[in-house]
Amino acid sequence: MSDTYWDRVSIIANDLVREAAKIIKNSFEKELIVEFKSNPNDLVTEMDRNIEKFFKEEIKKAFPDHLVLGEEGTGKEIKTLDGIVWIIDPIDGTTNFVHQQRHFAISVGIYENGTGKVGIIYDVMANEFFYAKQGQGAYLNGVKLPELKEASVQEALIAVNPGWLLKEEALMKLVKDCRGARSIGAAAIELAAVAANRMDGYISLRLSPWDFAGGLIILEEVGAKVTTLEGKKLNLLEGSSIFVAKNRLFEEIQEEYLSKSKKK
Ligand code: IPD
Ligand code: CA
Ligand code: CA
Ligand code: CA
Repeated sequence: MSDTYWDRVSIIANDLVREAAKIIKNSFEKELIVEFKSNPNDLVTEMDRNIEKFFKEEIKKAFPDHLVLGEEGTGKEIKTLDGIVWIIDPIDGTTNFVHQQRHFAISVGIYENGTGKVGIIYDVMANEFFYAKQGQGAYLNGVKLPELKEASVQEALIAVNPGWLLKEEALMKLVKDCRGARSIGAAAIELAAVAANRMDGYISLRLSPWDFAGGLIILEEVGAKVTTLEGKKLNLLEGSSIFVAKNRLFEEIQEEYLSKSKKK
């Protein structure tokens, strides 16, 4: 597809994300219906479903041949990344959305035959719009993000979900050795934080494609390294662990911690 085609896709994607954010913000005036999915800590709200439906319908109108894969069930029949696929998390950080009404994001990654073309992560309440187009850099509210600065483990802030520390000794040791550990509770915002040099790395033992599809494209543009904990390429159709860090830090964590990991 031509550059002009991708310019149009990217403008529409930006507009849809901003429109979705308005719908979410307006929902604070009404009482929210919250349900459990797999367990009482796995929340979903009517807003998660409404926003996904909004994307599905608007994308269909603008690009009838594009496919949509979303957390709340859209495109669950998709088995390959052939063609143009939008991978969407309508609200990443639903627990934060329900409990705090902040620290949640809309995440969108648009792929053509498996190659990342446009990535967006919008931290709605902070009004921070992260955007990247393949080969053209990553931007935060229109300002280009600089290349990542290096950091050693001793100088690094690492984002990690505290629950995972109980399961992985290597992570506990890393958290002890690094300058500090943080947990925001929204994977997309944590990935964006690495891209913006606010965090030096992020590790999760389990994420789904919609959690990282937008972030991967943004991280690629700032030169961060992203793999599974075992050093494999992420699969956009399957859940996996994820390990993200700037170059030298990536090697250091891989060699000194992850390769020596003993699962509990
Ligand atoms: C969750 C958040 C959370 C991460 C979970 C995800 P959701 O996404 O990103 O930070 O630890 O693994 O499922 O369900 O709020 O979209
Ligand atoms: Ca969820
Ligand atoms: Ca998510
Ligand atoms: Ca979600």
